[in-house]
Amino acid sequence: MTVETGGLVEQSKNNITTTVKHVNNRVRYGNKTEKKNRSYKKMRREVVFPRVPDVLQQLFVSCTQIFRGPGFVPPASDVNKLCDILDKMKPEDVGLSKSLQFFKPTGAVNGTPRVTYTTIYQCDQFSLCIFFLPETAVIPLHNHPEMTVFSKLLLGKMHIKSYDWVEPKDSIPPSKCEISIFFKSPNRIHSFIFDVIIIGLFFSLVVAVRLARLKANSVYTAPCNTSVLYPTTGGNMHQFTAVTPCAVLDVLGPPYSKEDDRDCSYYKDFPYSAFSNEGETTRVSEEEREGLGWLEEIEAPENAVMDRIDYLGPQIIETSY
Ligand SMILES: [Fe+2]
Repeated sequence: MTVETGGLVEQSKNNITTTVKHVNNRVRYGNKTEKKNRSYKKMRREVVFPRVPDVLQQLFVSCTQIFRGPGFVPPASDVNKLCDILDKMKPEDVGLSKSLQFFKPTGAVNGTPRVTYTTIYQCDQFSLCIFFLPETAVIPLHNHPEMTVFSKLLLGKMHIKSYDWVEPKDSIPPSKCEISIFFKSPNRIHSFIFDVIIIGLFFSLVVAVRLARLKANSVYTAPCNTSVLYPTTGGNMHQFTAVTPCAVLDVLGPPYSKEDDRDCSYYKDFPYSAFSNEGETTRVSEEEREGLGWLEEIEAPENAVMDRIDYLGPQIIETSY
C-alpha cells in the first residue's frame, strides 16, 4: 500500500492499483492495471506499506479504553486526553494532503455536491470516520442520540451550526396564545372546517417543533481545535457547510445503530420569532431570542445521502489492550 499525493490514497495489490481521486466534485476510485512486463520482484520493491502514525494508533488505543457504549459520557480527563490526541493529528496521519486536487477550490459548483465518507475503524463502542465535503456541500442538521462525538477538521474551511434542546421539552408551548385568543373571541365568524384546519395546524406545530438553544454558529478553518458534543450538551444537533473543500475526522462513541434505536434524525431550523407570540417574545430578551430557535424533525433530506468509499490510508494495528 502506498500513499500518493496525486490521489487521496493509493493502494497496490498484485497488479491492480486503486486510486481515490476527486472527479467532478466527487471522491472516486479508479482502477488501473499495471504494465504486464513488470516483474513481481520489481513491484514488491515499489510497494510501500505505510507505518501507522503514532498519533493514529494512540487515538485507536485510547478509544478502546474510553468508550463504554450508549449514553456513556467519558469523564473530563478522558475527553481532554482524546482532544489532545486529535488536536495533534495532521491530514497525513490518515493519508491525506492539502495538495490533493480534491482540496483545491474550483470556484464553479454545479448542483448539490455529494458528501463522501470513509470508515477507518468501527466496533460497537466507537467508530472513526472521515467525511469529505466538496465546496458548498452540506451535511444537514442532524442529531447524535446518546453519543459523544469528537470532530476534528483536518483540511479546509467549514461553517458549523449546532443546537441543544431546551429542557424541559414543553417549557414554552409554541403559538399557545394565538390559539386561545382565537377560541375566546366571541364575535369572530368562523366555519367548522376552518376550526378543524386551525386545530390540526396547532397540534402539528406542537408535535413537530421543539425549542433549541444555539451552541455554535461560526466558520472554522483547519488546523483548529477539536470540538466535542455530548448526548444533551455541546451542540448535539449540528450542520456542516463546506466553505472550501473539507475533510473532517469524527470519533463517534458509540456509532449510530438502527438495531439499537440510535438512528440519525434530521431537522429544519426556524428563528425564535417564527413560532412565538408577542407576549412570549417580550418576556425573552432580544439577546436571548438570538440564541434560540425552533427545530422541526424532517425526513432525511436529499443532501443527507452520502457516497461511501473504502479507507486506504495507514491502517491501525488492532490488538487487545
Ligand atoms: Fe454529525
